[in-house]
Amino acid sequence: MLWRRSSTRGAARRTLRVSFPRDADVYGLGEAAGPLRRNGRRLTLWNADHYAYDESTPSLYQSHPWVLGVRPDGSAFGILWDSTCRSRVWCGPGVLSVRASDADFAVYTLDAPSPRMVMEQLATLIGRPPLPPLWALGFHQSRYSYYPESEVRRIADEMRTRRIPCDALWLDIHYMRGNRSFTFDPDRFPDPAALIAHLHGRSLRTVVMIDPGLKVDPDYHAYASGVEHGAFVRDHTGREYRGEVWPGACAFPDYASAAVRSWWGDLYQPLISLGIDGFWNDMNEPAIFDGPGRTMPESNIHLADPEIGGPTTHARIHNIYGTLMVRATREGVSRHRPDRRAFVLTRANFLGGHRYAATWTGDNSSTWEHLAWSITMALNLGLSGQAMSGPDIGGFEGNASGTLFARWMGIGAMLPFCRAHTDVWTREHEPWSWGPAVEATCRRAILRRYRLLPFWYTLFHEASTTGVPPVRPLWFLDPCDPSLRGANDAFMLGEALMVRCRVEESGECRSPMPRGTWRPLELVECHDPDLPELWLRAGSILPVGPSLQHTGERPLDRLWLHVALDREGRASGELYEDAGEGHAHEAGAFRLTRFDARLAGDTVTIRSTHLGGQLERPHRTIDVHVHTDQGVHTATQADAESISIRLR
Ligand code: NOJ
Repeated sequence: MLWRRSSTRGAARRTLRVSFPRDADVYGLGEAAGPLRRNGRRLTLWNADHYAYDESTPSLYQSHPWVLGVRPDGSAFGILWDSTCRSRVWCGPGVLSVRASDADFAVYTLDAPSPRMVMEQLATLIGRPPLPPLWALGFHQSRYSYYPESEVRRIADEMRTRRIPCDALWLDIHYMRGNRSFTFDPDRFPDPAALIAHLHGRSLRTVVMIDPGLKVDPDYHAYASGVEHGAFVRDHTGREYRGEVWPGACAFPDYASAAVRSWWGDLYQPLISLGIDGFWNDMNEPAIFDGPGRTMPESNIHLADPEIGGPTTHARIHNIYGTLMVRATREGVSRHRPDRRAFVLTRANFLGGHRYAATWTGDNSSTWEHLAWSITMALNLGLSGQAMSGPDIGGFEGNASGTLFARWMGIGAMLPFCRAHTDVWTREHEPWSWGPAVEATCRRAILRRYRLLPFWYTLFHEASTTGVPPVRPLWFLDPCDPSLRGANDAFMLGEALMVRCRVEESGECRSPMPRGTWRPLELVECHDPDLPELWLRAGSILPVGPSLQHTGERPLDRLWLHVALDREGRASGELYEDAGEGHAHEAGAFRLTRFDARLAGDTVTIRSTHLGGQLERPHRTIDVHVHTDQGVHTATQADAESISIRLR
């Protein structure tokens, strides 16, 4: 491997060329629409707001200067170039070429016998994702925007009376007073504390949007205190920089300074006192309607701390502006509510920013192509360290048809972050908006997700300890099988469960079946052709919970273990449990259990082993389902260290 440093006229630049075997497949690069494999792809890393993007869009909201390669023999490598400046990337045949507007940055090359090991190495460089609160793994319903508060209550009522499982409702900008972050519109939301308490009473959390641009208005507390703290980015002459966003002329916090991040974090305190559960940072590329390239001038000045390289221009901070914002948000929220896990969603980010926030794939469109890209985007984000991502289910721009929405819900429920959201101009995009058939599919899709919560949570725990993402490409399982390298419409949850999707209105799943034995699995009452197929891999034990309307409905007092034996008559799986909230798990208040199944004669015995944590083994009923060629054999028993079931 080699890299070359070059300086071109004027600004210092560097061209990096890293060669690798021509027959290697490359992935990563974070967020870009299109197929999973990045071979042949050209992208520009420059965070940009791009409404209704497509495959030809060179830059989206995030920058991930990272490529993961897989050689034909299944061994893997990674290339990370540690530059926050704009870079043009080309994944050519046998070469990664990066032209960075930056002369001085480190390059890390990783090499390991498997992609999994490269992901583990990457995590040692960029950090592992924090374990989210359990509620964040539930279903979220959003739109631009639910207002006034009676509309929010109506959506909450619909969710509960129609028995659509849901954990959170989201408030987009219309809740604010004149689009001012950290305020509530007094007419639309006269009593936010009462509304939030009402939603809590219905076991629904509230997540609100906070944008970085603060309206230039001396009577607006956030702007006025920002001026007092000298918190805003300056133009090249040293004056407060102003640009147009939703509220009109805005000033932009300079999150590159620790003092500013601390001031910003404190602005959340009143919202936390109201009981708001999570925060959504949007428009943080930053998107500025009248700025050059719809952002701020590259000549703007940031008073960055030495940790970030000292005072510098926006050219160097641009790609990490969103990351620094969510760092400030997360740190502030954690400081003001130390007993709970912070949940932050961000649109803009940079490699490593997964430590502060989950993400969604921005302003997609209600089309079948975008449904397909929501899989490949989540997979490549996961391979770039961002474990928790998902699309606007149903699509943001445009009206979804009922079939598209139903199909999208089925797939979206199997991606790490599961939220329906749509634009201000579109028709209703709630699960019931297309009538009973679509509603029934959505209910089943979301129920499946809730039944899989014990597994999801175990996968997120694995991600938080290893850096390996919960949702993985098919080839992750069998990196030596070249036929899996371009599988765009099927993926794995961990190592146990394959999700096979129909991303065209009338087509079938095109991805090949991986080698080995796979058992079809259904977790809801009936087969629904609009839901993706679930397949259990032979050799796995999948932990499944009860049907729930929200994550806090009941503890895991009944556990289903779906067992698929391999050819040797063995299977195994793990279950991670903790309080689902707070930090006691960091001090040992968790329980990690391993299940091992073994066939002897016609009897399968499943033993559990306590792998770690100080929580007692819970008292619960266990339903064992052993999937075999002859069908599914079931047994129910009180939790014990060992359960036996005869296959007859
Ligand atoms: C842009 C975001 O991408 C979208 O999700 C949101 O609804 C609008 N901003 C309005 O806040």
